[in-house]
Amino acid sequence: MEKADIVILGAGAAGLFCAGSIMQAGGAGRVLVLDHARKPGEKIRISGGGRCNFTNLATAPDRFLSHNPRFCASALAGFRAADFLAMVDRAGIAWHEKTLGQLFCDGSAQQIIDMLLSRMDGAELRLKTSVDGVVREDSGFVVATSAGPVQARQVVVATGGKSIPKMGATGIGYDIAAGFGLPVIAPRAGLVPLTFAEQELDRCRPLAGVSVEAEVSHVHGKRRTRFRDGLLFTHRGISGPAILQISSFWKPGEEITIDMVPDVDIAQALRDQRGQAGRIAPATALGRWLPGRLAEAVAADCGLTGARLADQGNAALLTLGQRVNRWTLRPVGSEGWRTAEVTIGGVDTTALDSRSMAARSVPGLYFIGEAVDVTGWLGGYNFQWAWASAHAAARAV
Ligand code: FDA
Repeated sequence: MEKADIVILGAGAAGLFCAGSIMQAGGAGRVLVLDHARKPGEKIRISGGGRCNFTNLATAPDRFLSHNPRFCASALAGFRAADFLAMVDRAGIAWHEKTLGQLFCDGSAQQIIDMLLSRMDGAELRLKTSVDGVVREDSGFVVATSAGPVQARQVVVATGGKSIPKMGATGIGYDIAAGFGLPVIAPRAGLVPLTFAEQELDRCRPLAGVSVEAEVSHVHGKRRTRFRDGLLFTHRGISGPAILQISSFWKPGEEITIDMVPDVDIAQALRDQRGQAGRIAPATALGRWLPGRLAEAVAADCGLTGARLADQGNAALLTLGQRVNRWTLRPVGSEGWRTAEVTIGGVDTTALDSRSMAARSVPGLYFIGEAVDVTGWLGGYNFQWAWASAHAAARAV
């Protein structure tokens, strides 16, 4: 039977980085990376609109969702955003900060893939080979693959989550964990467009293309989560980074609240304007803070088409203000695995050592990257988790 010292399952962000870190530290015998894709790092290639948002300068444990929010702290402290950035600089890759600490390549995401591949010189990358399972054996593990079994002293599972099956996501990491009796937090789609009822779609479709900087919030139990970021009206409803962020926290049946002008109490501002410029229409008055088409639509929604601001009572202005500052919607679902950028849930961190990512009850077995129940916000955090968790495992194997 074919033998290797370390077999890494998955040639995505975490698997490639882990192999590179092992080789950079001097290697560890024969290191084999397996993936069923035709090319390595496919999600890196399409990430960040082709420019890869490869890290975030504001990385901290509070930017991640997990059943154990502190679990990620050790790995993140062991390999920081600045450490990855130093590698990017050494590789001569030009980058820029877009917003909120998000770092992107100036050129192409392929530069990041090339950098990862060059770091793992000496390791063997075998593509177009699917992994079917892992079992324990006296001397280590046997990995079942489409090209036959491979015996390994240690196995690193970096097979990612379930998002975008078309790109090769399988969720096999969860099956491997379950096969060893490790708990798995039920995976669900995150950073995903939410879907809305027909009545809301009718409101949104005519506004397709309009965008605002909004604050989207969500209450779950006693906890309110809010994100201020772009909100985009589309033919399919409402999307944009603010919606993607809140989607990771939203559960079916719950409401979200959108504040389209977060810094202004619109009802109060309209009452002030009523005294000074009462002859203008409410939509015109709203146009000071909202794009014209959106202002018109909101005023029409509140039955104020063609009216004069001066003729509106406080109650009408309050309704209008609430429609702008506290627009409450109940999404009917999400677009699911087809378009989700990440998977929330995964291998339960209670089964893993936070310093090494090793399965506590299975010496020699490691889980890294998105397969683990650690999921970042939008903005480069998920790659930073892939790098940091891979680095932690690479030091331990
Ligand atoms: P990843 O999914 O990258 O790799 C897993 C690998 O395992 C894949 O190559 C897959 O083919 C392989 N595999 C799975 N099952 C297998 C099997 N049975 N046999 C063999 N191989 C198997 N994050 C971020 O920080 N910044 C960003 O800009 C973006 N942008 C972005 C855009 C889009 C469209 C998506 C879908 C996602 C992002 N992300 C992101 C998220 C980011 O891509 C993601 O969190 C990381 O790729 C996770 O890295 P992993 O290595 O854990 O999984």
